[in-house]
Order: sequence, then structure tokens, then C-alpha cells
Amino acid sequence: MLSLFRPSIDRRFRVMGAGIEQRHQRCASWWEPHLRCSREFIRTSLRPCRRVAVLGAGRLLDVDIEMLLAHSQEVHLFDADSGCLSHWRARLGPRLGGRAFAHIEDITGSLKRWEGILRASRRRGDLAECLRGLRAVRPAWSKAEFCSIVSLNLLGQIPLYWRDFVQASRGRLSGDDEEALAASMGELQRAHLEALFSSGAGQLVMLFDSEYYRYRSSESEWRVEPALFGPAAMNCLSAPPQFCELARESWLWHLAPQFVEQESEGEIHRVEARAWLRKAGSR
Ligand SMILES: C[S@@+](CC[C@H](N)C(=O)[O-])C[C@H]1O[C@@H](n2cnc3c(N)ncnc32)[C@H](O)[C@@H]1O
Repeated sequence: MLSLFRPSIDRRFRVMGAGIEQRHQRCASWWEPHLRCSREFIRTSLRPCRRVAVLGAGRLLDVDIEMLLAHSQEVHLFDADSGCLSHWRARLGPRLGGRAFAHIEDITGSLKRWEGILRASRRRGDLAECLRGLRAVRPAWSKAEFCSIVSLNLLGQIPLYWRDFVQASRGRLSGDDEEALAASMGELQRAHLEALFSSGAGQLVMLFDSEYYRYRSSESEWRVEPALFGPAAMNCLSAPPQFCELARESWLWHLAPQFVEQESEGEIHRVEARAWLRKAGSR
């Protein structure tokens, strides 16, 4: 059904952020192994550096902020959810604005513009054509001087906000619209990877969901859904030649245990972690 109340992307980020926080409270013991693996991967693979950016910092659940502060002179936290600010203030106190910096922004740099294009195209009618024509810009953070960038479980999330916005504002989609929507989701992921690799950062650490598994305790098989679309799926597996891979790992995240979150099914994510170092002389 077409939603009468069409939430803006800003508001969706706040609502989704509050949802992540509440789900973490309900599922803390199921999430702990994933959060521990994430913090540990970042701790062991990130080399000390002057300025580090954390994209998708959220409520700082899956990253050890004290370790980042100990290993760098400046830590820049990015998230589109303005609800994160009070968490960052509570955790960092006066260090926020001193050695840690808050950036409440959409790290794709494209969602507001895409939202406007979609609203305007309503009058012209062809949703699929509009979605296929969307191109993501190079975001501002990728042009700033960071020595290390951590993309924190973001790649799979980036297109979901856009998908939800399109579905909420357009209601039921045709098969062609669905295909075009998946292509636009892939465009956001492609642009995120391109922005990471074309930034000047010497080190990149990326955690991302690659697949979603939905299960029922009464069934022996789970349903697999991809978290990566289009070229992103391939590009994540191999970095451009100017980077070498320092570390890679993979684990499962029991995100929504059946009977805790929903009676009908549960959800597990496959999480991938990669750390890359820029080869000397390749900038
Ligand atoms: C799966 S959560 C990662 C967990 C998060 N590090 C934490 O500890 O709460 C992904 C985070 O990315 C943020 N995010 C998703 N898409 C974004 C976008 N386009 N721009 C900025 N932040 C985004 C969400 O608001 C959320 O906080």
C-alpha cells in the first residue's frame, strides 16, 4: 500500500538508528561475537596514523574508539543519523571537537539529490527510466586528507535506505521497476567502493555484509539473499592493483534470532572484513 506519510531520508536514518540501538539491547548476547570480531579485526589491522575517518560510526558498537584515539591524532566520525551525536558526546566528552570530530552527513553525497529527482519524476511517470539514469557523485570525505579510512558495516546498508524510500514513496513496483531499483542500489555501492579506492588514504579497512540468511527453526535450509548488487559484488573481492591486501576474515552475525525479534523467522548475516594498504609510490 502506498504510504500516505512519506518520511524523508534524514528521518529514516534517525528511525533506523534508534531501531539498531533497541535491537542491540534486546540481542546483546547474540551480537557480542560479531562486535568482538569487528573490534578485533580493526585493532589488529589498522596501523597507527595521523587522521582516521570512520564511516558509519553509528553508536560505536563495533569499533573501539579508545584504541582509535590511542593510534591516531584525529578521529573523524561520520554517520547520517543525527541520533549518534548524543552517544559520541557521552563517550568522548570534551575530546569531541578536540581530537575527535563529528560529521553528521550522508556519506554517499547523493541521496538528497536522488530524492529530489525521484519526486520530480513522479510527474513524468517512468520510474524505471528515472532509476536507471541515476549516477552517484564522488562524496566530499573522499577528497579530504585521511591516512586511514574505516568503512564500518556500511556497504550493505547504504542502498537499503534508498530502497525503503523508493518503496515507501511509490508503493508496489513492477518487475521492471524492481530491476531498475536494484541497479540504482548497485550504483550507490559501486560509488562507495570507488570513493574509498580513489581517496588519498594509505590504508582502508572495510567491514561489510555480503549475504543475508533467513531461517525458520522448523526448516533445515535457510534462504539466501545478496547484500551486494552489480559490480560491487565483484569489486569487494579484489582491490585495484595499487593496493595490497593485509588481512581478510569472515564470520556470521546472528542479527535477529527467531522468537526474540520475530516469531516467524530469524536472520543471520555473513560479514566480510578486509584491510588494504596502498603500495609505496602508487598515489
Ligand atoms: C550496521 S550500522 C554499523 C554499526 C555502527 N557502527 C554502530 O556501532 O552502531 C551502519 C551505520 O551506517 C550508517 N549509514 C548507513 N547509510 C549511511 C549513509 N548513506 N551515510 C552515512 N551513514 C550511513 C547508519 O546510520 C548506521 O549507523
